[in-house]
Amino acid sequence: MKSNKIADGIFQLGANINNGDLFEGLWPIPDGVSLNSYIVKGEKTALIDLVDDWDNAPNNLLNQLDQIDIELESIDYIVLNHLEPDHTGWIKGFLEKTKDVVIVTSPKGEKMLRALFSYQGEVLVVNDGDELDLGGQKLTFYHIPFVHWPETMVTFHKESGVLFSCDAFGSYGALGNEVFDDQISEEKHKFYDNESLRYYANIVAGYSLPVIKAIDKLEGLDVKVIAPSHGIIWRENPSIIIERYRKFAKYMSGEAEKEITMIVGSMYGKTKAVVSSIVKGIRSEGIPVHIFNVPEDDISFILSSAWKSKGLVIGMPTYEGKMFPPTSSVLEMFSLKHVWNKEVFRFGSYSWSGGAQRDFENKTEKLKWNCIEPLEWLGEAKEEELNSAYLQGKKLAIKVKES
Ligand code: FEO
Repeated sequence: MKSNKIADGIFQLGANINNGDLFEGLWPIPDGVSLNSYIVKGEKTALIDLVDDWDNAPNNLLNQLDQIDIELESIDYIVLNHLEPDHTGWIKGFLEKTKDVVIVTSPKGEKMLRALFSYQGEVLVVNDGDELDLGGQKLTFYHIPFVHWPETMVTFHKESGVLFSCDAFGSYGALGNEVFDDQISEEKHKFYDNESLRYYANIVAGYSLPVIKAIDKLEGLDVKVIAPSHGIIWRENPSIIIERYRKFAKYMSGEAEKEITMIVGSMYGKTKAVVSSIVKGIRSEGIPVHIFNVPEDDISFILSSAWKSKGLVIGMPTYEGKMFPPTSSVLEMFSLKHVWNKEVFRFGSYSWSGGAQRDFENKTEKLKWNCIEPLEWLGEAKEEELNSAYLQGKKLAIKVKES
């Protein structure tokens, strides 16, 4: 990656992670992810957000500092908006290479810094609204707790209107040479749109109420550029990503897309046998349906689709008196990420006494789901079950359409 000038004295640096690793040790990133850092240079120099020691990211950062003629030793401040190690993991290596650099973070950030990295030096702790004068450049810090962790803040450069938003307004997807919203193609925008939804559903979804609170708070600022720590920089139309994030956050309260996500786990095909009847019923009402199989499909992509869909169809057989485990684990993730306020239909076969439905009801009772009558059958689905599957698919689609 090369460095990019955003405004006078303000540059984007960073690295692409593209080595096949999982993000957070959990989420696949087949098209990579960027870790963006930023330089603000006045009489003094601040580096905003760091990188992890991951896939050669520190060396990329050092090369980009060279490109803009900034020596590492000349950096006066390192601003840590958020302590998750994708933005801080290289802090020990960074501190070994710099002299007298001052770490700037929020009060909770300081505690995390000391806990995560055993850091014992001085910290400049900044409260909500505090300013840091670099001499010719001023930074203001605003706390946005739980976007993504409780310590998180953003840094605002009022004169240029650049908001360094860290995880907020971020996306998966490595960056090419063109990093600004006005430089990339429509096709690339579509890619980042999809990847920002998947990133949101995987990383931030459980904190959607704080996201809305943060957006409302930041609306009071004259933001001209959104410079996140993952993904592209929005300088032509920052309102696109702000409104996109607001839309994603509202999915949690039920203002979701009129689509259905179907998740099916099947041991010997007896449960899967009714899928095409359900799909026909859904499509008869003109509602799109996205089908995932577990355990084959990754939870990252299932979560993304389920988050935006108003309707869910969840199929699994009974397994030792409970739900088929791969489907059960999807529901645990839905619970963790607050996949709430959905119209839902559950189906599945059993071989003797059943039990999956009871387990399903227990596991989903706090998700605010509106479930229609489930469909369960002993052994193989007969004509009667196939007809019911079609009718329940249709019924769910009507509910989604009318919601
Ligand atoms: Fe990009 Fe929550 O770290």
